[in-house]
Parts: sequence; structure tokens; C-alpha cells
Amino acid sequence: MPAPTPLTQCDPPALDWSRPGTPAASDFGDIYFSTDGGLAETEAVFLKACGLPDRWQDRRRFVIGELGFGSGLNFLAAWRMWDSTKPKNGRLHFISVEKFPFDAAQLKQALSAWPELQTYSEALIAQWPGRVKGFHRLHFGDVTLTLIHDDISNALDELEAKVDAWFLDGFSPAKNPDMWSSEIMQKLAGLSAPGSRLGTFTAAGAVRQALIEAGFDVEKKEGFGRKRHRLEARFLGAREAEEEIETPTIIGAGIAGASLARAFKRRGLTPTIIHDPNHKAASHNAAALIKPRLDLQDRPESRFFLGSYLYALQAYRDHVVTKGVVHIPKTEAETERFKKLNSQAPLPKAHFYFDEAENRLALEQSLVIEPKAGLNDWLSGLRLRTDEPADDGLKILAAGFGLKALLKDKDIPLRFSRGQLTWAEAEVSMPITYGGYAIPLNEGVFLGATHQRLRDEDPFALKAEDDAENLAGFEKFTGQQATQSAKPSRASVRVTTADTLPLIDKVEDNVWIFTGLGSRGFVFAPLLAEAIASHICGDPLPISKKVWARFKLR
Ligand SMILES: Cc1cc2nc3c(=O)[nH]c(=O)nc-3n(C[C@H](O)[C@H](O)[C@H](O)COP(=O)(O)OP(=O)(O)OC[C@H]3O[C@@H](n4cnc5c(N)ncnc54)[C@H](O)[C@@H]3O)c2cc1C
Ligand SMILES: C[S@@+](CC[C@H](N)C(=O)[O-])C[C@H]1O[C@@H](n2cnc3c(N)ncnc32)[C@H](O)[C@@H]1O
Repeated sequence: MPAPTPLTQCDPPALDWSRPGTPAASDFGDIYFSTDGGLAETEAVFLKACGLPDRWQDRRRFVIGELGFGSGLNFLAAWRMWDSTKPKNGRLHFISVEKFPFDAAQLKQALSAWPELQTYSEALIAQWPGRVKGFHRLHFGDVTLTLIHDDISNALDELEAKVDAWFLDGFSPAKNPDMWSSEIMQKLAGLSAPGSRLGTFTAAGAVRQALIEAGFDVEKKEGFGRKRHRLEARFLGAREAEEEIETPTIIGAGIAGASLARAFKRRGLTPTIIHDPNHKAASHNAAALIKPRLDLQDRPESRFFLGSYLYALQAYRDHVVTKGVVHIPKTEAETERFKKLNSQAPLPKAHFYFDEAENRLALEQSLVIEPKAGLNDWLSGLRLRTDEPADDGLKILAAGFGLKALLKDKDIPLRFSRGQLTWAEAEVSMPITYGGYAIPLNEGVFLGATHQRLRDEDPFALKAEDDAENLAGFEKFTGQQATQSAKPSRASVRVTTADTLPLIDKVEDNVWIFTGLGSRGFVFAPLLAEAIASHICGDPLPISKKVWARFKLR
């Protein structure tokens, strides 16, 4: 196996702003868009060439795939057209690949050329993931954007989707051959829904030939504006009927179950939720931290950790208690690791930097959230039941520690780790982590959390030595005093796996499990639930195929 490469952000684009109205890429010697014909060019060359808006009229889901996100102009134009012509209860998925993403300021500058798109561009910029590598899923009402920040060839290999319309918008084939090779056209064919259509501004012979060899029926059309010709293509086959999706029953109303509820409700499905009111859910603590897990090496799961953190920041935006966390390294080795992470910068500095003077990591976008508010919001409109689920029908078991009993007849390699939280009085002005954590809340300082592999004990019985451990951890790493307050401590159980990755798989024909969220359930669950709902409903996956496979039973 080749050694993993260091995880960094994507390389920035080499932008040249000297040309009127449009940014250009100096290393490709080409422009991002032409302001000559205004949005009319985008509409003619991509949207109308793919038969839009007519083709989405009777669709519940329509999927556009774009090669080259650049400034996002094509996305915004498609979104605007969707808004004025969309079918009832339809959803638009727009997937786009970009190797050299803009940062938010560059996006803002480029899109200022299109005041008519201002409301759309502001919404895009507000959720923009920057140059962070990997998959990013952004929601804008009934429009879902999946951005893949990677080289085109890898990105197409990692994508699980059936695309109805392709926008081929690399720089010109002579200057940007990687975007137009026959290998790429073969990959597009593999991702195309039957009857898929394709539009591009170029009429280059090699592109035409590569498309024909990949199975597309290609036509040369009159070009837009000063361009003589362009291509339109159709993928063979007739459109398949859309399948009816079975509404699932979700067992569990912790963050795993609530995230599933949110993801299915977004798709117009109303799942049944079954819970056990006597179960002491790990998700019912007074607060939860949303912090990124930062890896030095670029592995599929490391990109998922970043994508899930960015997704969670958006998902919990209405449930924030405080923003900004500092992390104190526990050892010299951890300090060295943070210095390395600081120089590799897998996330923008706005999300984390190492403060050498203070010897701490500043996580300025990380959140403390109120779990109860999030759970209530995502489960709203659903009736929580306590009866047994029907034997037939699609079920997703997301029952946390309850899975130990539910899966007792199956050989599923789960581990259980008990954790106790302690309330204290101490001088803490902002959330601090150090392996454990101290979170100032209205009711006092919330100290967490112990970790013990669960044996045959009662996991919820409180232990005085755990409170002592939480107080001692706080004093050791912050150098400050803390005293335990009268408010009772709380113990609950994390479900983990041997390699600490989540677990999502079918355990029977119509039964899934969703667990293994360990110490980061609030960070991982929203994106993983979106992935499960996407898979079940046949939508594009919001995570890479490789990482999805890593979460299967192992
Ligand atoms: C002390 C502690 C601190 C933590 N801090 C953080 C943090 O700051 N940030 C973070 O991201 N993560 C944190 N975690 C991890 C996070 O809390 C968990 O990963 C997450 O809550 C797991 O969610 P879940 O929905 O899988 O399980 P749970 O929250 O345990 O929910 C299980 C659900 O299943 C139901 N259920 C159980 N058995 C049955 C049954 N037989 N039939 C029907 N329903 C059943 C229950 O009623 C409940 O609704 C912490 C964990 C602990 C223990
Ligand atoms: C013409 S621009 C796209 C314009 C864009 N659609 C818009 O609406 O602004 C071409 C894009 O392809 C990207 N690109 C070039 N080579 C790439 C590669 N190998 N993989 C992925 N993207 C690439 C460039 O960075 C650039 O953003």
C-alpha cells in the first residue's frame, strides 16, 4: 500500500483579475466565464442543451453533474431556473467537481459580476466550505449541492450517483486536457442515468470522439456568441421510472435517530420513530461539543471527519450555545502534532490555528450546542412510539447502547465505553478541552468525561471516583481550582468499534444498523444520516464511495 500523503487543503486557483468582468486562471490562460452574453450563454450552452427546464417537469429528483465549479455561476443559474420552473415536490441535486476552489472572498468578488444572482450567491457564500478537500454537502431548501474538492479523475471514481444532465465546463481542452480525456468520458458514461444529456461550449474533435467512444450520441450545434460550434450529447437508453421509496421505521431517538428523521423528512418522508423512554441516552447530556477531528494523513476517513464537522456546523446553526473552543495539548508530543497540523492546515485558519505563545489550539468556529434543542427540532412533527416495530418493513436500528440487547443474537463487534459527567464551580470563561472538557453553562461548569470499557456493571450507577477524575483533569490542564456542585452527575454509554469508525450496514434483508459514533456522535451523525437516506432513496451520496465502504461491517 502506498504511504498516505499529508492532509492539506486544495491548492488555490491562480487568479488574474486584470480582464474586465471575469476572473481568469493564469496557469490555464483561460477565463472562468464570459460576461459578453451574460447568463444567456450559461443557459444556452448548459441548461437548454440538456433539455432544461422541460426535462425536470415531471421529476421527483433531477441530478446535474458539472465538471469545474469555478465561481459557481452555472450552479447559481441552474438554481435560479429551478426556482422559477420547478415541479411540485421536486428536488434538484447539483454535483460539481473542483480541484482549485476559490475562497469565500474570491467567490464574492467573482460573483459580484452578476447582481441578478445576488440572493443566490449570498446563500452560497454563507455556507462555503473554503478549500477543504473532499466531499461537501450543502442544502438550499429543495436544492442540494454536492461539491467534490478533488482532481476530476479521483472525484468521479469516488462519486455514487446517477446523473441526468452533465455540464462539461473545464478550461478549453487544449489548455486543460485532464478534464476532457477519453478516460473521463468513460467515467461520465458509468455515472449517467439512461437518457442522460450533456452540454459543453467546445466542439473539439477529440472531445467529440471520446464522447462517442463512451457511448454518447453527439451532435455539433451552432455555438453561442463568437464561438462557432458547441456539442450536445445524449446517453443511450430511456429514462427509468422513479421507484417508490419505503418509509423506514427508526429505532432510537438519540442523535443518530433524530438525524435520520431530519434526513428523511427533508425528502418528504415521515418515518416512524420507536424509542425506549427508560434508556439513558448518550445524546441527552446538557451540552455537546462540535469540534473537528484533525488528521495529519490524507485518508478517506480523514476527509470525512472534516466534511462531517463542516456539515454539523450548518446543521446545528439554530442550536448553538457558544462558539469558540480552546484545546490545551496534554503532552509535548501533542504540541508537536498541533504544530504540524498548523503548517499543513487541512482546514482554514478561521477554523483552527495553533497559538504557540499560549500553547493551545484555537478552534474559533467550534460549537457548544444544546442537544435537547436539536433533538426536539429534528424529531418535531413525529410521534415517538414505544411499541415493537412490525416484523416486515424497512428498519434502521439506531438505538445506541440499546443495541447490545437488540443485537444479542448477532455477531456484531461493538464495544461499549461508559462516560460520566460532573457539574462544578470554577472560573471558566470559554469552553476548554484537554482530552476532557470544561464547558461554562448557565447552571455551572460542565466537566467531562471519563472513559471506561464497560464490563458487567450497571453502566448508569454514578461513581465518586469518576467525579474526582473529572475535577483532577480540569485542575491539571488548566491550573485552576474546581469544586463539585450539588447538581447530580450523569453517566451514559458510548458505542464504539475496534477501529473507532462508525458502523452502517444491513444486518438483515430489510434491517440496517447505524451506530459506532463513539465520542463524536453529534459531529458524525448528521452527515452519516444524510448518507443513509441518500443511499436508501437513490440520491447522490454525500460522502465518498471509499469511506462509505469503510463504515460497513468489518
Ligand atoms: C459522557 C459523554 C460525553 C459525550 N460528549 C460528546 C460531545 O461533546 N460531542 C459529541 O459529538 N459526542 C459526544 N459524545 C458522544 C455522543 O453522545 C454519542 O455518540 C451519541 O449520543 C450516540 O447517539 P445514539 O443516537 O447512537 O445513541 P443514544 O443517544 O444512546 O440514543 C439511543 C436511543 O435508542 C433508544 N433505544 C435504546 N434501546 C431501545 C430499544 N430496545 N427499543 C427502542 N429504542 C431503544 C433510546 O431510547 C434512545 O432514544 C459523548 C458521549 C458521552 C457518553
Ligand atoms: C471554466 S472554469 C469553470 C467555470 C465554472 N463552471 C463557473 O461557473 O464559474 C474550469 C474549472 O475547472 C477546474 N479544473 C481544472 N482542472 C481540473 C481538474 N483536473 N480537476 C478538477 N477541476 C479542474 C478549474 O479550476 C476551473 O475552476
